[in-house]
Amino acid sequence: MTTKPTAGVSAIRSGPMGLSLLADIQKDPLGAAGRLHGCFGDVARLTILFRRIYYFFDPEAVRQILVGHHADFARETRLLRILESFQGRNVLTSEGQDWERQRRILAPGFSPKRVAGYVELMDAAINDSVREELPALIGQSAVVDVDFLTTRVTMDVILRTLFSHVTTREETSRISTAIRTLTRQSMREVFWPFIPPKWLPYPGRAAKLKSRQVIHSLIASQVDARTRAPRSADAAGQDVLDMMLAARDDNPTTGSATLSSQEIHDNCFLLFSAGFDTASSALTWWIGLMAKYPSVVDQLRAEMCSEGVTPSSMEAVARLPYLNATIKEAMRLYPPSTALITRVALRDVVIGETPVPKGTLAIVPIWQLHHDHRSFAEPGEFRPGRFMPGAPEIPRSAYLPFGAGPHFCLGQHFASMEMALIAAHIVRNFDLSLEPGAVLPEPVVDIALKPKTTLRVRFTRRQGDIGASRVQ
Ligand code: HEM
Repeated sequence: MTTKPTAGVSAIRSGPMGLSLLADIQKDPLGAAGRLHGCFGDVARLTILFRRIYYFFDPEAVRQILVGHHADFARETRLLRILESFQGRNVLTSEGQDWERQRRILAPGFSPKRVAGYVELMDAAINDSVREELPALIGQSAVVDVDFLTTRVTMDVILRTLFSHVTTREETSRISTAIRTLTRQSMREVFWPFIPPKWLPYPGRAAKLKSRQVIHSLIASQVDARTRAPRSADAAGQDVLDMMLAARDDNPTTGSATLSSQEIHDNCFLLFSAGFDTASSALTWWIGLMAKYPSVVDQLRAEMCSEGVTPSSMEAVARLPYLNATIKEAMRLYPPSTALITRVALRDVVIGETPVPKGTLAIVPIWQLHHDHRSFAEPGEFRPGRFMPGAPEIPRSAYLPFGAGPHFCLGQHFASMEMALIAAHIVRNFDLSLEPGAVLPEPVVDIALKPKTTLRVRFTRRQGDIGASRVQ
């Protein structure tokens, strides 16, 4: 591996076969990517354990990989097999025609129109979980572990919208522990030199099997109950499981036009796990930022007030420009999915001016793209105005919280609606503050981007009527 340290940047030590570099990336993926960018410029070409790995830091090159040249790249088989070992074969872990078919069948269930139909379920979940977790009386306050709160609310939302299942605090805690055990184990396995066979007693196997069983049992009980007793016509069509059971491929060139019961089970696993941890991460950082910048919260209330948003017009929050700008800017500063976007070159291909040989692993470092001063002036500053109508255009593919190209996030509209509803609920009902002297914790990659130490915020219940807090 070649190293070419530049002035003012600490040298990158690759060690024999790139092992020091691998250890550095594993320990601190965000910092390591930053050091690689500093040392090598817009393309960092590495060889680790005989594997060619290229980091692309230029948004135009990233666009070519994910969009323009998408047919020359595939998702990494190794990563897909690791995910498949606990999620089964779903739209995330399948490839080629199998992936196309599943995506075609599922996509209509996540269109903006369809997502609007889930608003009532989302709203009920938000009201119930917030009522249980946060102070109920006006003026009452509590200091809260924000990540636990957002996990509780987003899990309630996903279980309500997937299965119309009302969860409890105890169940949230048990299930989120199981999901995090699985995601941490997969992060660990990604760095192993080989994928262990199922029978081998490898480190973490017992906890992985136990956690996998917790999620499989939850899904099996929901799906079995629904297939045994289909819901009445007026209730049917309201949740995602109803949608999956009824979904048809309009263009069934390959495979069955419907999802098999195994495919329904495996996609429920994916939607469930993809659906709460990322949104929970985004909201955790958003709440931290709102506690840090109370004047932004005042502006949000003013926007809701002037737009006449009331609890009965919740769908209207999805259209509030400033509210959405604060969420987008929070996801720029703290992109929830920083570890997910990698591709393998299927053939020799040229990206920009860089020849990329077949088999190369291309890494899209979302964190660096979002913090690049060439795309975002003063990138470390929280400035929601960047995403307001009329703001200077953001370079294509410089902002990618939901990915880009054919594999872009299937749940983007769902997540955007859910986050706007939760954010609006919090702004309407609570004042937020950090404890004196407290700062936002450092972020760490835990599949989703999480606070390294517990983020605690004081929530004080306020008069729920937004009109009462109109900002003059
Ligand atoms: C803030 C919340 C979310 C973020 C930041 C996020 C981010 C992403 C990203 C970056 C990808 C692309 C990965 C790639 O290109 O390799 C992705 C894919 C995906 N996401 Fe999300 N996601 C979020 C919420 C959700 C939700 C709520 C759901 C479903 C309920 C969901 C379902 C999926 C699925 C099924 C895929 C795979 C799509 C495919 O390969 O065709 N996501 N997500």
